[in-house]
Amino acid sequence: MAAPADIVRRVEQLREELDRHNYLYYVLDSPELSDAAYDSLMRELRELEAQHPDLVTPASPTQRVGAPPDGGFAEAVHRSPMFSLSNAFDEEELQAWYDRTKRLLEGRDFSMVCEMKIDGLAVSLTYQDGLLVRGATRGDGAVGEDVTSNLRTIRSIPLRLLGDAPPLLEVRGEVYLGKQAFARLNATREAAGLPTYANPRNTAAGSVRQLDPAMTAERSLDIWVYGTGGSQGDGVPDTQSETLHWLQTLGFKINPHTRPCPALPEVVAFYKEWLEHWEELDYGTDGVVIKMDDRTQWEPLGVVGREPRWAIAYKWPAHQAVTRLREIGINVGRTGKLNPYAILEPVQVAGVTVKQATLHNEDYVTGKDIRVGDQVVVERAGEVIPQIVRVIPEGRIGDPPPFQMPQRCPVCAGPVVRESGESAHLCTNASCPAQLYERLVHFRGAMDIEGVGTKWVRILLDRGLIQDVADFYTLKMEELVTQERMGETLATKILANVEQSKGRPLGRLLYALGILHVGSEVAGLIADRFPTMERLAAATEEELTEVPGIGPKIAASLATFFRNRQNLELIEKLRGLGLRMTAEPGQAPAQGPLTGLSFCVTGTLASAPRVQIEARIRSLGGAATDSVTRVTSYLVAGDAPGASKLRQAQRYGTPTISEEQLLALLDTGEVPVS
Ligand code: IVH
Repeated sequence: MAAPADIVRRVEQLREELDRHNYLYYVLDSPELSDAAYDSLMRELRELEAQHPDLVTPASPTQRVGAPPDGGFAEAVHRSPMFSLSNAFDEEELQAWYDRTKRLLEGRDFSMVCEMKIDGLAVSLTYQDGLLVRGATRGDGAVGEDVTSNLRTIRSIPLRLLGDAPPLLEVRGEVYLGKQAFARLNATREAAGLPTYANPRNTAAGSVRQLDPAMTAERSLDIWVYGTGGSQGDGVPDTQSETLHWLQTLGFKINPHTRPCPALPEVVAFYKEWLEHWEELDYGTDGVVIKMDDRTQWEPLGVVGREPRWAIAYKWPAHQAVTRLREIGINVGRTGKLNPYAILEPVQVAGVTVKQATLHNEDYVTGKDIRVGDQVVVERAGEVIPQIVRVIPEGRIGDPPPFQMPQRCPVCAGPVVRESGESAHLCTNASCPAQLYERLVHFRGAMDIEGVGTKWVRILLDRGLIQDVADFYTLKMEELVTQERMGETLATKILANVEQSKGRPLGRLLYALGILHVGSEVAGLIADRFPTMERLAAATEEELTEVPGIGPKIAASLATFFRNRQNLELIEKLRGLGLRMTAEPGQAPAQGPLTGLSFCVTGTLASAPRVQIEARIRSLGGAATDSVTRVTSYLVAGDAPGASKLRQAQRYGTPTISEEQLLALLDTGEVPVS
């Protein structure tokens, strides 16, 4: 059944609206609509299309992510060839190109257009009657791969052109992945324990040439369009500068750093300006492309091999250099991660002396077969840490042994493990000095030791007063007061806070120990199930994975932690110093009117910091807990209480009292009736 006319109209209207907002957002970078409003238009269109599937068209904004092509990518024959560019590496070579071209033009001067040479992947987009019908890679210049389903997912590529489009038009441009998007992608991959990508260009190319469009859609790819290929009908202007402008009116993204230049000095000035700033752009460029502006001259000038005479790339100075790898050093990060790095024979790379380069992890080194003594190609791009691009095989002397990660931590000699499926090697010793500062800061935060800021942690560490987290509990008045800018008041406060932190429940302590993958939530879950440190330390990996929310990765990390002798010694030391090692208070330290009652405080309290209130509860014989369980007597709700705690209290029928009621209770010992 055909859809009613008003639905057809609404669908068309929604598509126009969505196309326009998409264009404003992705092409012009000046959105008019909030994401929520855009989503609601999109939702409406999806619903209407679901009710009337006959109205769905390939150009509908709902159809960006489609199905992968059956049997891989088909061949795509370009209507006009996709050329390469000849290069100039200095002003002389640029001048030579200009002079040669001028000679071919029988002595006539010519004007030019300067554009950025984008470091991405060349694509050709074919539009028939204004609709995107094919997207292809460059391939050998004559035949590429049909990657339409992937290119359609790039939101700055119009699925249908704005304005009057010729019946047929091939549009050429460069697909790229922005530097920030690349960094975000790698950060997400690292967090998920996946190998990271080497550079934005290869990642962009890989994303366009893989088979699942949904994956391409996740990559934040973008495009700059710089020209046309084959076309039919009128429309393509006679000059390059007008062509760029015309493409812009059709809805394409044109790089703003484009400038018409009447003669060579202006070209040189453009190049020199950008030589200072190109690294600041959010996308990679490898130079400036100079094109003759008058397109009617392009064909008569001709092509040499695949390089047309009407254009040239004036490249940025080389960002690579060859040097020798003297040694592989290992740096230990705060989470215990061992990071190999290259110690190089110093070499100049684009004006900077490079002595070190990152080697990421063992797989990176072995994957590139990098060995000590090798001749290597080093690359430096912008602010990025120098990288080793590859080894020069002919430069290898003798047969140096392949690289292996040390089995003991180079800083503390503690055992090193590599978890299955992870690329990183880790030092498992919680007391490793390389990790110590960060661990101390984390511990102090997790255990709520107020008054000991990061500055004090650094000072206490440097003076040798703290060597591991247990040393917080052996700090003495006389040691503290002799520190500069530490008066008796502050020292007293610190010692009181340290003392108070001994009573934190097991969940907090587990979190504070900084066990890999064990965040505060996870630590709470574990402590709920294994309420004493002894029981937890004795738990097998299988038992651990039975806890809802604990996967094999966390279980393995806990098991590794509790197998390490130094960690066990640290725990015993903490126990000896009086830290509570249980989830629920075993014995209330004091007897008083609150003996037998337990309180969980949530939200912010107005009268005093939570730790102080908790200390008062304990001093009256009560217990202060971190979570609401069956045995919790009262949930104390301050300002902005935690929703999950309120829910738990409701579940167990635990009475919730206000801060005022609690204060009254602390003052009078009278238990409120609710
Ligand atoms: S024009 C002469 N303009 O550079 C025809 N190409 O080495 C070549 N590229 O495969 C295309 N930015 O992928 C042109 N503004 C730009 C460009 C550009 C990057 C790439 C393009 C081409 C390669 C040629």
